[in-house]
Amino acid sequence: MAYTTILVTREDRVGIITLNRPDVLNALNLQLMEELVDALDTLDRDETIRCIILTGNDRAFAAGADIREMAEASPVELLLRNQFARWDRIRRVSKPLIAAVSGYALGGGCELAMHCDIIIASETARFGQPEINLGIMPGAGGTQRLTRAIGKYRAMEMVLTGRMITARQAEAWGLVNRVVPVELYLEEAKRVAREIAARAPVAARLAKASVLKSFDTTIEGGLDYERMLFYLLFATEDQKEGMRAFLEKRQPEFTGR
Ligand code: HXC
Repeated sequence: MAYTTILVTREDRVGIITLNRPDVLNALNLQLMEELVDALDTLDRDETIRCIILTGNDRAFAAGADIREMAEASPVELLLRNQFARWDRIRRVSKPLIAAVSGYALGGGCELAMHCDIIIASETARFGQPEINLGIMPGAGGTQRLTRAIGKYRAMEMVLTGRMITARQAEAWGLVNRVVPVELYLEEAKRVAREIAARAPVAARLAKASVLKSFDTTIEGGLDYERMLFYLLFATEDQKEGMRAFLEKRQPEFTGR
């Protein structure tokens, strides 16, 4: 698939997807979402890739779903577009996903960042769920993921007023991993990605699945799930390699097998 709204690059074992509709602050239209999901799917299946970064530009990660495309839509049209199937695919990316956010991450843009596993923000990042200003509400997980990330009262205030928060506020509330100067946010995301890419890929994949499981299960069910995955990792060559390397006092060479 030839992309016109995103750029995809590879640096060693890290795949980088850059949202690229700068004229409209990377508004997420259907074309972009289709390309994004295609790129994520390709990188997720590519065995040479171990971690994926999702980013925009300094001014905007993404200012939300494309309002122009939604303004006159009927519920049936929205239903037939089935756009949430694409969001479901993003939710199922098995490799670690890092959002490198600068500028606006609003509405669907904030929700896209929250689909990622780690969020690195620049000092200029702004997060918000401004849908209420348009007479709607978040639809790609905002009311659920934001609430789990920052708690009921802060999420309520953001969702009900539509107010944006700064990167520092997001950091204080636990919505982002860390805040760095704008010149460094992508570099920092790459640094974390390289660190993850050097680890055992199957272990990373199952660890991600296990952490995510904690959001929709009981503690009992989650602990059982974790234990099964823990056992499963002893069937990998990387487990043998990792433990032997430790005992032999050398660096492990993980193959993803
Ligand atoms: C379509 C958008 C857009 C969007 C910005 N643009 N956001 N176009 N959809 N979400 C366009 C503007 O129309 C404008 O185009 C250009 O990008 C630059 O934006 P400006 O408004 O001129 O920039 P600025 O004054 O700096 O204001 C930045 C801003 C503002 C505060 C981010 O653009 C804004 O409020 N945008 C909308 C944010 C929003 O409501 N997001 C939620 C969308 S609903 P022109 O052609 O005039 O130059 C949503 C629901 C998700 O996300 C549901 C799940 C899929």
